[in-house]
Amino acid sequence: MTAIEILRNEHHVILEAMDLLEHQVHDIRRGDPFDTGFARWAVEFVQEFIDDAHHAKEEGVIFRLLASRGLALDSAPLADMLADHRSHRELAAEMARALGRGDARSFANCTLQLVELLRRHIRIENELVFNVAERLMTAADDVDAVQAFGRVVLERDGAMVRQRHLAAIECWRRALEGGRPPGA
Ligand SMILES: [Fe+2]
Ligand SMILES: [Fe+2]
Repeated sequence: MTAIEILRNEHHVILEAMDLLEHQVHDIRRGDPFDTGFARWAVEFVQEFIDDAHHAKEEGVIFRLLASRGLALDSAPLADMLADHRSHRELAAEMARALGRGDARSFANCTLQLVELLRRHIRIENELVFNVAERLMTAADDVDAVQAFGRVVLERDGAMVRQRHLAAIECWRRALEGGRPPGA
């Protein structure tokens, strides 16, 4: 798998999780009890999988490479992508605070903003940023990028984090399809 294929694959996982988060928002808005087990996982996913693992690979490896090939980090599209990553971090922190207060409505509002942000952001990366990266990257760049991704994964225990979250997505998806929380 190339470096960009790895990132596109992670986007696929993130979009699957966003469908689950959106479902949770609708449940909260319908007046269902606040499922704090799901909310705790949601906060961990957006911080560990999306920010610590995925955004770290984009910012630390791919965007840096694109900058070295003439794409400015302080103008579109990379500046917009970096601003989205910062907004994502702020919304994830807001979700964690709302969960800590047991404030379901505020949690739902932050989550919905984050879902909308990520869907738009991923569309731009998939259709624009990654296409540019694939045109600019040589085979040697790709080898270097995949190796650098490996270092990000090692530093953050990413393989375990990925497995845990993939299993959680599957578990929550089945639970939602069955209309009950896992273990119930
Ligand atoms: Fe991104
Ligand atoms: Fe991304």
